[in-house]
Amino acid sequence: MTTPWSADFPFLAVPDRLSPHYLDNAATTQIVRPALDALVRAEVELRANVHRAVHARGEAATAALEAARSAVAAAFRVQGEEIIFTSGTTHAINLVAYGWGQRLQPGDRVIVSALEHHANLVPWQMLAERRGIELSVVPVDEDGRLDLAAFEDLIDHQTRLVALTHASNVTGAVTDVARVVAAARAVDALVLLDGAQMARHGPPDLEALGVDFYACSGHKLFGPTGIGVLWARRAVLADMLPMLGGGSMIRRVTLSGSTWADPPRRFEAGTPPIAAAIGLGAAISWLSVQDHSAMAAHEHALTERLLEGLRQRQQIRVLGPRRGRIGVVAITIEGAHPHDIAQVLDQHGVAVRGGHHCCQPLMDRFDLDGTTRLSLAPYTDAADIDAALAGIDDAIRQLT
Ligand SMILES: Cc1ncc(COP(=O)(O)O)c(C=O)c1O
Repeated sequence: MTTPWSADFPFLAVPDRLSPHYLDNAATTQIVRPALDALVRAEVELRANVHRAVHARGEAATAALEAARSAVAAAFRVQGEEIIFTSGTTHAINLVAYGWGQRLQPGDRVIVSALEHHANLVPWQMLAERRGIELSVVPVDEDGRLDLAAFEDLIDHQTRLVALTHASNVTGAVTDVARVVAAARAVDALVLLDGAQMARHGPPDLEALGVDFYACSGHKLFGPTGIGVLWARRAVLADMLPMLGGGSMIRRVTLSGSTWADPPRRFEAGTPPIAAAIGLGAAISWLSVQDHSAMAAHEHALTERLLEGLRQRQQIRVLGPRRGRIGVVAITIEGAHPHDIAQVLDQHGVAVRGGHHCCQPLMDRFDLDGTTRLSLAPYTDAADIDAALAGIDDAIRQLT
């Protein structure tokens, strides 16, 4: 079976490919052809260092890297100098926690939630230790959504930043960003969205979202690994400190001290992941011209097929809301360990993730050690879902 997007994904053409039913897209998606082609071209035809060479190859590499930055900026509807290439979402959020957070004072407050991936929790805990700030946590409701009424009670004039996930990597719940931004604006707090799971559903329109920081990873939106993006408003970046010091990020260095380059260079010390960034630009350009409502309808239909199948099996508990979710479905089977379930599914050629998904506080919230997570992509088809359901039946037989 093919989908309208299958032809763009080279992995599907590999004979006897590993894990033919790939349902671990929340961890890493497969690479799209234009990103792979751009990556290979960058490594073969343009390989040279950037922003320093005067030779043709170096200039072409620099132009391609900056064109990738412009492509990301255009897709996100922001300015190129507001796009910082990072190694991924984790790096992007750490950069904010360090570079922006370093200016916070004791008494300032950052709000996170119990839904967060460790990438959007641990950096803030580290900041709280360093700067003596207060860290407050938005609770999660029974359906695995943020409790926004509790959030609105929690936010106050001490709040400097609200750092929340755009969509959960466990429950699939999508955050009501407009409501979060309205509450934050009322107290002059900034908003950071962890877009790791949401960005592949279509590049975020950052102008419309009205947030201040956005972080995402290339490998979760059909691009290369080892590359991601931090976006922040120009005025916010202008005041931010660098996290890494070294080549490329300076204006002037003397033996007694250094001054910083303007953003984005200030935050890109050393040789950047040039080919990966060029590949990411191609992935985001590809994504931005897709029919997003058709993609959403495809993911929704297959998620419903999966949820319906799961509902028919009584031993199964599904985390997450019925509506307002992406195609990320975490389940438990009474009496069976998530890793064992993932192993049985693997025997059926179905790749899923078993464990805490870097969300231990969320597991604590539901009193679980872990879950088994199935996550969809545009190249997922009905056969993948049916293979997963058959594997789950086998897991129930073998493990309970
Ligand atoms: C919601 C969320 N945030 C952050 C991350 C971290 O992304 P990366 O490992 O690419 O930095 C992930 C990865 O699973 C995620 O799902």
